[in-house]
Amino acid sequence: MKKIGVLTSGGDAQGMNAAVYATVRYAIGCGMEVYGIDLGYKGLIEGKIHKMDMRSVDEIIHRGGTVLKTARCPEMKTVEGQKSAVKTLVDNGIEGLIVIGGDGSFQGAKVLSTQYGIKTMGIPGTIDNDLAYTDFTLGFDSAVNAVMNTIKMLRDTMTSNDRNCVVEVMGRNCGDIALYAGITSGAELILVPEVRFDINEVIARVRHNIQHDKKDNIIVVAEGVGKATDVCAQIAQAIEGINIRPMNVGHIQRGGDASFQDRLLAIRMSEHAVNCLLEGKTNRVVGIRNNEIIDDDIVDALAQRRSFNMDLYNLANKLVEAF
Ligand code: ADP
Ligand code: F6P
Repeated sequence: MKKIGVLTSGGDAQGMNAAVYATVRYAIGCGMEVYGIDLGYKGLIEGKIHKMDMRSVDEIIHRGGTVLKTARCPEMKTVEGQKSAVKTLVDNGIEGLIVIGGDGSFQGAKVLSTQYGIKTMGIPGTIDNDLAYTDFTLGFDSAVNAVMNTIKMLRDTMTSNDRNCVVEVMGRNCGDIALYAGITSGAELILVPEVRFDINEVIARVRHNIQHDKKDNIIVVAEGVGKATDVCAQIAQAIEGINIRPMNVGHIQRGGDASFQDRLLAIRMSEHAVNCLLEGKTNRVVGIRNNEIIDDDIVDALAQRRSFNMDLYNLANKLVEAF
């Protein structure tokens, strides 16, 4: 295989640029030509493709976001859109495609490989960490660090004012950002979609803590559970006189420099993806399991159900239950 394409798609994530950097540099080092496709599947459909060289990825290894840009592209779900995407690849002589993105982007890669015979490799890039076949996705570590730092700053002002805070974090239907950021921030409560909870028990816990002089409780809420404003309103209504505020961390958790973990993961995964293409292994997704870089069949990988780390969740509770 001589000519490959690379695109980033779906929600951007820290580490996507490091993956573009490593894909371009490693593939060129292996004697390949690399073409960047702008704006994910939208750019693929519209033919936004350009040759990349060693210098085109200077100074991007650390940066959040994606220099190839990204887009949500409903046309890719239509046969017409898919045919245009394939045409761009065929017209430009692209023999293999590396897709950096999340679950939705991999669905697009699956369609290209299973229905149109395009040789694809997926690299998981999403802060949500919601792909079952891999322990971690690019962006997750950086996003958790961003939330952790936000909570640390919040805690300063909350503690000084004996004020409680409900902090909403991203993750779609996955509670991993809430769990990992919550436990490493010492949050008093962590609400995730994977674990059913009773709001009355949440209220009882906050009331108990306040009665025991713990008056700066941080309640982390995954977006898959609901809005910080709603949880905050329910607690405020039940506990008379409570000093409590809602806060949505929002898109800042998706920005900023990639952590060392995300950069290294991106570099290791990109090397693996390029090697797979060189070895003729295609229609696969790259991941990490037990600190080993692996690849799985794209269809099998997407069919897996993600398991939630209940041990860590229980430990998080154990650390804060005895106020
Ligand atoms: P993410 O990749 O972060 O999960 P999305 O779910 O928005 O983000 O998906 C990114 C893009 O992948 C979509 O805008 C669309 O172009 C493409 N995509 C998603 N689902 C499919 C599908 N079933 N078939 C083809 N393309 C899809
Ligand atoms: O998938 C990444 C993610 O940041 C989710 O955590 C969040 O639900 C969604 O994307 C936000 O999407 P947008 O940037 O389109 O508002």
